[in-house]
Amino acid sequence: MPARSVNGTSIFYEESGRGGGGDSAAPPVVLLHGFPLDSRIWAAQRRALPEKFRVITPDLRGFGQSAASTAPFSLELLADDVHALLKELGAERCALGGLSMGGYVALAYVKKYGGELRGLMLIDTKAEADTPEGKEARTRMVEVARQKGSSAIADLMEPKMLAPDAAKQRPAVAKELRAIMEACPPLTIEHALLAMRERPDRVAELGQIKVPTLIVVGEHDAITPPAVAETMRKGIPNARLVVVRGAGHMSCMEQPEQVNQAMREFVAGIV
Ligand code: MLT
Repeated sequence: MPARSVNGTSIFYEESGRGGGGDSAAPPVVLLHGFPLDSRIWAAQRRALPEKFRVITPDLRGFGQSAASTAPFSLELLADDVHALLKELGAERCALGGLSMGGYVALAYVKKYGGELRGLMLIDTKAEADTPEGKEARTRMVEVARQKGSSAIADLMEPKMLAPDAAKQRPAVAKELRAIMEACPPLTIEHALLAMRERPDRVAELGQIKVPTLIVVGEHDAITPPAVAETMRKGIPNARLVVVRGAGHMSCMEQPEQVNQAMREFVAGIV
């Protein structure tokens, strides 16, 4: 099983494709999953993108097949884990992408390690911190996770994750997403909720992002809607926004062709 001991934990990852050896080649593509999910959300990207690029999809600390989370963590720590993993793999000069919580981690990463990156992909995510009501909702969800476990959290998340007609139009995607959410350990859910609740607002930092940036958002995203994607586009000097037709929050699973095409064009265009 591909896993590396880094930063005091064990991080599972999958890797396929080749390239990214030098700065004249296309950079490796690294994709970070959201909450309460794991790297399986990138299955369609893992199938399509390795034709042209080296693709690495880690499970963040405590998620998927990575080691269990034993103590609260911050999103910065998750960024440090990813950086340590990429150093081990010789892939720091990558195009780093993150969906939703993975995007929060990518924003923490670019602040600390941005000088090493060749591209940034912010997918169905945002730069704003939680509102006071949002923070209260996180605290309530921690209680739900403790008392009722992962499937109760999946019940809360499910209605917001996919475009309104997705359960009918794409039942296989809805089923897979549900299975991934139910598999997320309750303690990881608790730690991730606390980390997201405490994350800083990064809107004022957007202007400092120097790497070429692709922003992707599902047109029906109910968690991080197109308006917050537009805030990132305006704030980041070298950013391009792609709105994914027919997708909700999980654009990479709902409309993989559009997302893959946007990623291919973006990564191939990085010089
Ligand atoms: C995610 O998809 O990662 C989460 O919904 C993000 C959040 O709750 O802020």
